[in-house]
Amino acid sequence: MNQKQLGYLFEIAWILPSVAVPIAFLVAIVITAFAVGISVPGEAGRVDPKTLNTTAPFDKPGLRELAPGRYEAVITAQLFNFTPGELEIPAGSKVTFIVTSRDVIHGYKVENTPINMMIVPGQISRMTTTFDQPGEYYVYCHEYCGGGHHLMAGKIIVTPAQSASSGR
Ligand code: CUA
Repeated sequence: MNQKQLGYLFEIAWILPSVAVPIAFLVAIVITAFAVGISVPGEAGRVDPKTLNTTAPFDKPGLRELAPGRYEAVITAQLFNFTPGELEIPAGSKVTFIVTSRDVIHGYKVENTPINMMIVPGQISRMTTTFDQPGEYYVYCHEYCGGGHHLMAGKIIVTPAQSASSGR
């Protein structure tokens, strides 16, 4: 093997990984997006922050049971709290969070769950998760929104499932 052939070999030894690494990243993105379901929250709709009190579903914030074990939580974020601040659901419940802001940009993060959304005035953020483990899940605003930002928190209480009715 002469000097030139050795040079080619060396070059190929670097080219292959430099192609393989981006392909590996792409595969990882595809797997997390489609198989694991991790995604950037898409825009789930628009709403005028000034007319929230008269615009469904934000005219009646709160928890709604859509079917057994299936809930929808409509929440508004505003300086410096969430409405409603506290939710109670039985373990095993699947909850879709539908959140918007009345004023500035907030965050909505539920600890130990994938729920982690930017709450932008004028936009609706929507995400679904299942609460399998009973306990208290703290909710907090993770976007600096002003002097009371550190106080902007809530709670989700997951009660043990009723074994008789749920059939688990
Ligand atoms: Cu709301 Cu920080």
